[in-house]
Amino acid sequence: MQPMNPIVPNTDKAEKYKLLLKQAEGLISSESDLIANMANLTALLKDTFNWFWIGFYRVDTESNQLILAPFQGPLACTRINYGKGVCGEVWQSGETQIVDDVNAHPNHIACSSLSQSEIVVPVKNKDDEIIAVLDIDSDKLATFDEVDAEYLEQLVELLK
Ligand code: SME
Repeated sequence: MQPMNPIVPNTDKAEKYKLLLKQAEGLISSESDLIANMANLTALLKDTFNWFWIGFYRVDTESNQLILAPFQGPLACTRINYGKGVCGEVWQSGETQIVDDVNAHPNHIACSSLSQSEIVVPVKNKDDEIIAVLDIDSDKLATFDEVDAEYLEQLVELLK
């Protein structure tokens, strides 16, 4: 008889995230500058997972746009309007979003045609206001799941 739908956690990925979180805690506890910490977080994520594009967009209250911030990967769009693209949607909703196939997501902004799936996580300050988003793109379909969402949310908490 076949076992019934066993849920096997992706422990390998979770283990990588746990190590990464420890490294990030060490780095961020000794530095208060937001940009420097964002820069190192993207480097840590790139080193650990080597995804196609990893970066932050910061909320600019003057222009009411997201503006490109530290990232690792190819050149990207510099400004995103409120509610536009997956990044703009996450800025609006305040909730992490996972997109398995960006080409099937009508509001997606394609900075690169190589991008196939993505996850966007809101970055909040101590007052729970959204100050940025963390956007990660993969050149493969359906790369991200709830494990990524959970650990990436923990990671950006460190920026508070
Ligand atoms: N795909 C994002 C835009 C940013 S780039 O992928 C780096 C979006 O739809 O908001």
